[in-house]
Amino acid sequence: MNEFEKRLAKHYDELKWLYYELYGSDKQAFDYFCSMLGKCWAERNDLLRELDEAREKVPDWYAGNDILGMMMYTECFAKTLKGIESHLDYIQECGVTYLHLMPLLDTPKGRSDGGYAVSDFRKVRPDLGTMQDLAELSAKCHSLGISVCLDFVMNHTSEDHEWAKRARKGEKEFQDRYFFFDNWEIPRQFEQNLPEVFPTTAPGNFTFCEEAGKVVMTTFYPYQWDLNYRNPVVFNDMTENMLYLCNQGIDIIRLDAVPYIWKTLGTNCRNLPQVHTLVRIMRMAAEIVCPGTLLLGEVVMEPSKVVPYFGTVEKPECNMLYNVTTMASTWHTVATQDTRLMKHQLESVFALPKQYVFLNYLRCHDDIGWGLDYDFLRSFGIDEVAHKKYLNDYFKGDFKGSPSRGETYNDAPELGDARMCGTTASLCGLESADKDSAVKLDIMLHAFLFTQSGIPVLYSGDEIGQLNDYSYHDSPDPDKAADSRYVHRGAFHWEDAEKRGDMNTSQGKIFNAVHTLMTLRDTQSVFANEADTWLVETGNNHVLGIGRYYGEKTQKEKMLAFFNFSSEEQTFKTSENLTGIFEYNDMIKGERFTGDAEGNIRLEGYGFLWLLADL
Ligand code: GLC
Repeated sequence: MNEFEKRLAKHYDELKWLYYELYGSDKQAFDYFCSMLGKCWAERNDLLRELDEAREKVPDWYAGNDILGMMMYTECFAKTLKGIESHLDYIQECGVTYLHLMPLLDTPKGRSDGGYAVSDFRKVRPDLGTMQDLAELSAKCHSLGISVCLDFVMNHTSEDHEWAKRARKGEKEFQDRYFFFDNWEIPRQFEQNLPEVFPTTAPGNFTFCEEAGKVVMTTFYPYQWDLNYRNPVVFNDMTENMLYLCNQGIDIIRLDAVPYIWKTLGTNCRNLPQVHTLVRIMRMAAEIVCPGTLLLGEVVMEPSKVVPYFGTVEKPECNMLYNVTTMASTWHTVATQDTRLMKHQLESVFALPKQYVFLNYLRCHDDIGWGLDYDFLRSFGIDEVAHKKYLNDYFKGDFKGSPSRGETYNDAPELGDARMCGTTASLCGLESADKDSAVKLDIMLHAFLFTQSGIPVLYSGDEIGQLNDYSYHDSPDPDKAADSRYVHRGAFHWEDAEKRGDMNTSQGKIFNAVHTLMTLRDTQSVFANEADTWLVETGNNHVLGIGRYYGEKTQKEKMLAFFNFSSEEQTFKTSENLTGIFEYNDMIKGERFTGDAEGNIRLEGYGFLWLLADL
């Protein structure tokens, strides 16, 4: 048996069981699926197979504290893939070992949703380069110890995709790859239970296709046609597209909008059980063909919906998921300067099994949705709609005294559910007068990010405190001009990056602070994913305290971290004994730390402490 056959044999029974369950024992489709896997394995190059083998030996290779992620748009950072290759030195200087390239496959201009409307899964957008360039860039990254992540936009294709074009011309076989309806009757029934993803920029979940004279399902933008995964041909071909990308050297596949991929009338068409079956099958497909590849699920939902995407120990689904609720709660804590919700949130994260790997982040290419635990907030008399309005007003800078500069996104007043856009630095207030305070907050948030277990992912530009870019308002493309997510999708300012060595600039201060945090995180085992984590009581609602402990054989490390979310100086006492059994060192300053004679700790506005115990 060759490697492929061995791996297939290992998964065969479960694979067949799940496939048959989903597709009514369709033997022909299943046999095709298996032979397609074999074909993809045969096409995998030797270097990638070596990587597979090495990673199979260390299955948690991606869960180390030495991994730092960065996500970027090719066009914003370096115009082309070749451009990125020529700037890998900068990426390395940032300490990045996981590079997420935002969608770069072919997409129609003006109808692309930032690249999330793919017209060809095997072709790079010509202005960015070629598939060959992508494969070369991945190989170069691998030689430098950097993994590459790419979106796999699997819920829909662009209306310009070959399948969509043929569907539009009336070919039934291709209409069957989407959701086509002769009239609005069934779409109307669907709509009764379907929320809207983009209520103002793209209302409704269906679009009338003039050419076909039929109604087609379009959950996101009207030019993004939902694929019908009830059709095994769709699943087979899309899995093949995914494996094709893995064979170009993509290490991490971001499963875009994965909760939406199965639709059933009468439901909200999100997180249905069949979605989990599909993800489980894809996980097995990856383990059979390219076991060095990881699946990252994009599940931007409340924690109870996110965690099931890890699957179980015996039947794992995604390798990694976004820690979206902690991200949103972070910004809530910035706006309220009150850490109680954050403590509550961290308590649930800390209680999760340690083998779960989360991607932590402050900002990404998307808006911040205010998916907070409102049941908890209600106990403080906080009302959901009023609170969302407060948060949006705060981050727009409309609230008195707020230094933030952000823009709302999909503001549908009747829903009271607007979301927020802006770069970390602009949301921290770096565009307004008190730059020192904004820089401190920005750095403190990064320290908090790096204290969490999992993989921290920086949004390109954040490492130099890049500000909002308002030029999208003047874009000739009406969809872009109306989509405030572009406020944080501006071109990377290389001239600002040049200032990173100058500690008198905000760029220098932020870059060097992030660099110090990254280096400490990288070298201290207390940041390991499997470390114990707990909340440290501070008796002060402005100050968040986190403890970490990692102990293995001779290596034992304990750390305490404190974050002052208030703009004012705070004094607090910790429940941990600072002057008792252990001595503590301030990791940033590199000196002994004790607090004052009464055991009080003073933290300046937006200050933080990383303390490492002498064990
Ligand atoms: C994901 C992406 C978002 C995109 C959507 C539709 O949520 O992050 O940017 O608009 O999918 O593909």
